[in-house]
Amino acid sequence: MQPYYVTTPIYYVNDEPHLGHIYTTIAADVLARHKRMSSFDTFFLTGVDEHGQKVQQAAESKGIEPIALADSIVERYENLWPQLRVSNDDFIRTSSERHKRGVQAMWCRLENAGAIYKGFYEDWYCVPCETYWKETQLKEAECWESKICPDCERAVEKVQEESYFFRLSGFQDRLIEHINANPDFIAPESRRNEVLRFIESGLHDLSVSRTTFSWGIPVPGDESHVIYVWIDALTNYISALGFPEHEVPKYWPADVQLIGKDILRFHAIYWSAMLMAAELPLPKRIFAHGWWTVEGEKMSKSLGNALRPADLLADYDADVIRYFLLREVPFGHDGDFSFDALKQRYNSELANDIGNLLNRSLSMLDKYNGGALGEQGEEEACDRALIADVAGMQRDVDEMLGRQAFHLALERISSVVRHGNRYVEDNAPWALAKAGNEVRLNTVLYHLVETLRLVGLQLIPFMPEKAGTMLSQVMSTRVNTSELMFHDLGGWGYLKPGHQCSKPSPVFPRME
Ligand code: MSP
Repeated sequence: MQPYYVTTPIYYVNDEPHLGHIYTTIAADVLARHKRMSSFDTFFLTGVDEHGQKVQQAAESKGIEPIALADSIVERYENLWPQLRVSNDDFIRTSSERHKRGVQAMWCRLENAGAIYKGFYEDWYCVPCETYWKETQLKEAECWESKICPDCERAVEKVQEESYFFRLSGFQDRLIEHINANPDFIAPESRRNEVLRFIESGLHDLSVSRTTFSWGIPVPGDESHVIYVWIDALTNYISALGFPEHEVPKYWPADVQLIGKDILRFHAIYWSAMLMAAELPLPKRIFAHGWWTVEGEKMSKSLGNALRPADLLADYDADVIRYFLLREVPFGHDGDFSFDALKQRYNSELANDIGNLLNRSLSMLDKYNGGALGEQGEEEACDRALIADVAGMQRDVDEMLGRQAFHLALERISSVVRHGNRYVEDNAPWALAKAGNEVRLNTVLYHLVETLRLVGLQLIPFMPEKAGTMLSQVMSTRVNTSELMFHDLGGWGYLKPGHQCSKPSPVFPRME
């Protein structure tokens, strides 16, 4: 089986999960489920980023040890993922022994490659972003007077200490070459151009160790230094795969690494340069998605308006949340979360379009034929058009998810559903029944049921439970969506005359 590896960022444990964290993880889950169903040997990794000054400070402010804070947040994440039907294959903690081994091995690789040297760091640091800034960069960004971080606009602090450096500047040309030679490496394209411009403006060597706090992984052979949290964190993508025990781990390079736009520079530049120095292959693709606002406002701790997944789950089914997040905003764009928009999409696309097609089709089948598919007659042009549209959907969804165009994939599925609803109107099964045209009635109902079955199958990665319920009604047997492959239920024509469907019961009742 062909391997497929998808990752999410690992989330800081200084705070509880919020909307931004579940967004990436749900997106990764859809890709993982789709690939598993397409018979790929799939590995889906998520986890938490436990080290660094930011987490240490958060723990200090609560008067607890960093590991105690980490344990409590980890528990939240580990409880949350199953509730959101996230099917990760592994969960990496950066405080784990396997990860520490991976990071220290990575450090030694970089050192042996001559990419690390000792020096003295004297510039600025942003703790919330765990980012270094040079005076010149602060000046260019007009942040020098106010001493704020150009990314998050919070205060930067002066850092003067002995430090190890990574020769990032030496990778400038190779990075540009790699990005130019691999047009799919960084997506979306606007972000790719942004990264190229950043590299072209000149890369500085990167300070990669700290001596003024201790919550991190010690530098091998010089324990007074802890490894810079980003070098530590980025290595999770291979430490979880068994690096260094596995020299080039199975599943590496990743097929796609999903991240938010704010951490693209760390992935596209630092991570790529680290891998180049360590002589490991680069990921095939890094996709930077946009940011959510909530009801028009930026989520922030100070406003106290961070949207918590537990609150969302109290009112909405996980599948509805999954659907909305991926349907509402093109992946890669910024977007706004609002409860009105959620309800509107739910009622129009799930309740009205899909729910209606399912209900009316299975109700008519029940009413006119006791729920059983009958012998069909000759196919007409409109039947062939529906079959072709369904086949097109299967191909298109695969292609669209291949480039992480979740909203297009869902729109493509919706277009088949709308086609199905038009087909009902055009063929008016109730009139066929009234006229006693049994053969044509059977044919029309058969086409509707097969359409529903194949739509349900395509929806599984997005809405595993709801799509499973849909399919269970069509198949009249419980369908286990986490083990189902696309080929198990075949293509058009899998259901045979005599197949019995269940009576419909609403999968997407209208929301008031
Ligand atoms: N620990 C680092 C990542 C290390 S990966 C080797 C980190 N953690 S984080 O918890 O601060 O953020 C994780 C992700 O959440 C980032 O990809 C970020 O873009 C995303 N989001 C945070 N707020 C967000 C929104 N408002 N909207 C969408 N995503 C957002 O960064």
